[in-house]
Amino acid sequence: MSNFIKINNLDKTFSQGDRRIEIFNNFNLEVEMGEFVSITGPSGSGKTTLLQIIAMIDNFDNGSYNLFGQDISDYSNVEKCNMRLQNFGFIYQSFNLLEDFNALENVAMPLIIRGVEKSESYKLASNMLKLFNLDHREGHYSNELSGGEQQRVAIARAVITKPKIIIADEPTGNLDKENSTQVLDFLFKSIEKDKITLIMATHNEEIASRSVKRVDLE
Ligand SMILES: Nc1ncnc2c1ncn2[C@@H]1O[C@H](COP(=O)(O)OP(=O)(O)O)[C@@H](O)[C@H]1O
Ligand SMILES: [Mg+2]
Repeated sequence: MSNFIKINNLDKTFSQGDRRIEIFNNFNLEVEMGEFVSITGPSGSGKTTLLQIIAMIDNFDNGSYNLFGQDISDYSNVEKCNMRLQNFGFIYQSFNLLEDFNALENVAMPLIIRGVEKSESYKLASNMLKLFNLDHREGHYSNELSGGEQQRVAIARAVITKPKIIIADEPTGNLDKENSTQVLDFLFKSIEKDKITLIMATHNEEIASRSVKRVDLE
């Protein structure tokens, strides 16, 4: 039995006007620490919804969700927000870098938000960008970076706080094959090094086949 993530008998419906769309009915999921879990399924099957529920951004109708051995229904919204800040990192299909900040500032941002001193944050961010072969891009803004470079900056930003869990929503959806492979190599290296749990929605069969656990949504 998992003490890390345990979702039991989850129900989730959305209302769209008069219509009710059932996304999950008695859905179960267990994830162990350090696992790579892939979530596959066609567009509209609920991949993003599941990631949002796991990150406590979206809620659900019935069922239970235990995170780190604690029922999340015990938490207030502020507590959920703090849990998210301390334990989760996010990677999106569209990279979502802050446009008004350069690569170094983007990667340092999560540390600064958490109260790490500015000079220390920049030093750590600079080291992280080096690991991602991006030291020559520190001062570049997102419109001066290729898609693959932007996603590497986004991954550096997600892992710099050493989160317990990384939520990745189709992180290679906007990248060609060569860049996808390169970006994922950096991602897998980071999660192995820091024993980070990776939960990734993907359309890519090759990536999904590398996961320890597969969730295939209809
Ligand atoms: N906030 C919402 N309100 C109503 N319907 C939604 C909402 N979010 C998602 N949906 C619907 O739920 C279904 C699953 O969406 P989503 O989780 O984004 O799927 P996927 O990520 O697999 O493409 C879709 O039919 C979508 O239209
Ligand atoms: Mg989606």
